[in-house]
Amino acid sequence: MEKTKIGIVGCGDISEIYLKNTTGTFDNLEVVACADIIGERSKAKAEAYGIEALSTEELLKRRDIEIVLNLTPPKTHREISQKALEAGKHVYSEKPLGISREEGKLLFDTAKAKGLYLGCAPDTFLGGGIQTCRKLIDEGWIGKPFGSVAFMVGGGPAEFHPSPDFFYKSGGGPLLDMGPYFVTAMINLFGPALRVSAFTATPYEEKTILGPVRYGEKIKVETPTYINGSLEFANGVCASLLTSFDSHGSYGKSGLPFLQIFGTEGTLFVPDPNTFGGPVRLRRFAGEVQEIPVTHGFTENSRGIGLSDMAASIRAGRKARVSADLAYHALDIMFGFYDSAKQGAHITLESSCERPEPLARVLPKNSTEA
Ligand SMILES: NC(=O)c1ccc[n+]([C@@H]2O[C@H](COP(=O)([O-])OP(=O)(O)OC[C@H]3O[C@@H](n4cnc5c(N)ncnc54)[C@H](O)[C@@H]3O)[C@@H](O)[C@H]2O)c1
Repeated sequence: MEKTKIGIVGCGDISEIYLKNTTGTFDNLEVVACADIIGERSKAKAEAYGIEALSTEELLKRRDIEIVLNLTPPKTHREISQKALEAGKHVYSEKPLGISREEGKLLFDTAKAKGLYLGCAPDTFLGGGIQTCRKLIDEGWIGKPFGSVAFMVGGGPAEFHPSPDFFYKSGGGPLLDMGPYFVTAMINLFGPALRVSAFTATPYEEKTILGPVRYGEKIKVETPTYINGSLEFANGVCASLLTSFDSHGSYGKSGLPFLQIFGTEGTLFVPDPNTFGGPVRLRRFAGEVQEIPVTHGFTENSRGIGLSDMAASIRAGRKARVSADLAYHALDIMFGFYDSAKQGAHITLESSCERPEPLARVLPKNSTEA
């Protein structure tokens, strides 16, 4: 089948893995052009991958490009995605969909009105680790899930990032930066949420940069950096999600679980929702915790699997797994947390979405497993 032609806007850090995977792992995609506001960056990627370097305007005019992959920073997601939709292109954006609920809604409505596909990272929930968890839940290995706790805690980008300023401004913060991985994984595992509530804190007025590039410089903190949220899902699961940039030490080293799910017959230990692989661990009743073999493929850094699924869905005329309503529901949940903290009330969500279809298992070559 003819490959779907992709144009990338934004040739920074994350573009490398997308370029690598779209020219290797996913053979239904062909990146033909790229653009960046900094011309040297698009030229360098174009040379390395044998594609064309264009301006964003030229890229949007290319008739052969079906999907625009928006890899610009969060504050320009809306502008670039909107322009691409207006140009009649399907859009796959890095997360978050926008930096306000209004931005997300505008994109959602535009895509719907134009009959175009709109998707937003993360696609880590399509990785082997979380697809295995989905299978275990759907097959009843933990009985009926009723509760869940998730922790995204670390010292934050001031400790390591060369240019961490944006993460501490409105539109940044741990919730919009890392929350999408956790919220999207939860929606995939439990379905849509009905209500949310949260408390937030901003313990530091300033953060000191500890990375080597601007060591010692201060950043004024203008957004909550500690968000303690609760979610009530339509399937009855009552969940907690803590996102923090203030919990000293590296993300993943806190000793707290990434995502743990309690069911009437057991507990499931879900791997880091910011990764594609395992380990997946399960305790049935009061037994020992056991590591469960990962049953699905795409356990390596498979960024782009959602884009590949979108391209296949466009061809097949079916709903993409990384869909506009999933992306908007995830954004609505996160802004629901902020609204709840400000208003001191539960927030009943206006958005909802279908639980994405699970992926088929991909067996290793020569496997005789049924
Ligand atoms: N870096 C990571 O590890 C990582 C991981 C997961 C997701 N993401 C997400 O990927 C996105 C990009 O992050 P990044 O780390 O690659 O950022 P980056 O700053 O390294 O790259 C962004 C690129 O976009 C370009 N750009 C900015 N405005 C533009 C415009 N108006 N038109 C065209 N190009 C423009 C910049 O010049 C830059 O080259 C963000 O949404 C981020 O949340 C990043």
